[in-house]
Amino acid sequence: MDGPMPSKSLISSVIYGFLLLSLCNSLKDNAVDGKRAYFHTLKINSLPSPDVCKESSKALNEGSSSLKLVHKFGPCNPHRTSTAPASSFTEILRRDKLRVDSIIQARRSMTLTNSAEHVKSSVPFYSLPVPPNDYIVNVEIGTPKKEVPLIFDTGSDLIWTQCKPCKVCYPKVPVFDPTKSTSFKGLPCSSELCQLYGQGCSSSKCTYKTAYVDNSSSTGIYATETISFNHLRYDFKNILIGCSDQVSGDSDGQSGIMGLNRSPLSFSSQTANIYNNLFSYCIPSNPESTGHLTFGGKVSNDVKFSPISKTSPSSDYDIKMTGISVGGRRLLIDASAFKIASTIDSGTVLTRLPPKAYSTLRSLFREMMKGFPLSHPDIFLDTCYDFSNYSTVAIPSVSVFFEAGVEIDIDVSGIMFQYPGSKVYCLAFAELDDEVSIFGNFQQKTYTVVFDGVKERIGFAPGGCN
Ligand SMILES: *[C@@H]1O[C@H](CO)[C@@H](O)[C@H](O)[C@H]1NC(C)=O
Ligand SMILES: *[C@@H]1O[C@H](CO)[C@@H](O)[C@H](O)[C@H]1NC(C)=O
Repeated sequence: MDGPMPSKSLISSVIYGFLLLSLCNSLKDNAVDGKRAYFHTLKINSLPSPDVCKESSKALNEGSSSLKLVHKFGPCNPHRTSTAPASSFTEILRRDKLRVDSIIQARRSMTLTNSAEHVKSSVPFYSLPVPPNDYIVNVEIGTPKKEVPLIFDTGSDLIWTQCKPCKVCYPKVPVFDPTKSTSFKGLPCSSELCQLYGQGCSSSKCTYKTAYVDNSSSTGIYATETISFNHLRYDFKNILIGCSDQVSGDSDGQSGIMGLNRSPLSFSSQTANIYNNLFSYCIPSNPESTGHLTFGGKVSNDVKFSPISKTSPSSDYDIKMTGISVGGRRLLIDASAFKIASTIDSGTVLTRLPPKAYSTLRSLFREMMKGFPLSHPDIFLDTCYDFSNYSTVAIPSVSVFFEAGVEIDIDVSGIMFQYPGSKVYCLAFAELDDEVSIFGNFQQKTYTVVFDGVKERIGFAPGGCN
């Protein structure tokens, strides 16, 4: 006996239903997949946050060593010399622009110095990007240990601090006294390292000068010295440092810089064999919280990696951006809009995008924010809103994609930049009039960012500062 045959129309509606279902599923994949949301809730703050430090409780991995990463002007910085006044907002943006310009300029000069005409034995001397101005770590230096606050900077190489006797030192911040340290050894002019990196010889000590593109500089002698982290039982001995008796440029809270770029001089390169050439950091969501800078340790399973671009300057950390989505919708721009790799920089604040990518992001963001009153403060950010009449606003989520399937769903604290002392918030991205893009620290907030020098890759995982 034959059973009843399903009618043609039933078959086609089953097929139709199946197609519809798959269509819905594919739409859903583009939009919300459980943990991801179209919108984030932005709380509109009328009062400044209380000036109290909240410590991150992030447990440290075994075998790793961490430093607290704190905002220079926040309550977690024990050496802060001032709190940033609201008027410094334009100053932050001015310096940020300077840093970005200087990264472009430094890349160009590096390309020049790396070129064939560059003569043997000459110093790999080029201007470094303008030092960043926001996050510091406290390290201990010498024997006995003396704590110094250093700017953490993935864009420069040397680790240096100001030293006595000063010709010109930053006021109100610690000055290291090498005569009081038993582990301090000036680098002899005859040494191989001095042949490689030295710029001269003064009283038989090897001298250096680090010049930054904003004309700030640090001049002094090279030395080898012990560097320690406060929780750690052992010390890093014989680290090549700069001991500077003459500094120029701004400081309101740091004694020097900890360079972490890929060149052999950087602290991360010098300690690479101890830490398996791996370090990571997390930038906190606000200046009242701590993050961390960690050397070594286990990489957790949720870290997604993207390969470091082979075509970028050897000292930068560049990976390839492949797309952006806003409110779960992928921007319709083709890959050629991102043909140059993006620098992952700890010291640039706002993410810079190629013109086509930025304008597409901006129009989609504006479309989704339709109905909120636009505002036009006198700054280079061009998508600002006056949220005076709101206590919370649902803003579209923004995700940035990198090669090899990395997606960064930017934390709500990293999407819009609040104009201090007001309720004006601006989309915290900007266009770069060049074929360089930079993934800035504002958008990196709350993510663990992992720099793996062995496998030449950079990884990201959410929830890094909790
Ligand atoms: C640095 O100094 C040079 C020469 O004096 C000058 O041309 C340049 O504009 C200065 N750069 C900045 C960022 O101030
Ligand atoms: C806030 O609401 C008041 C009253 O409706 C209105 O007059 C004002 O323009 C609104 N302000 C903004 C910035 O939207």
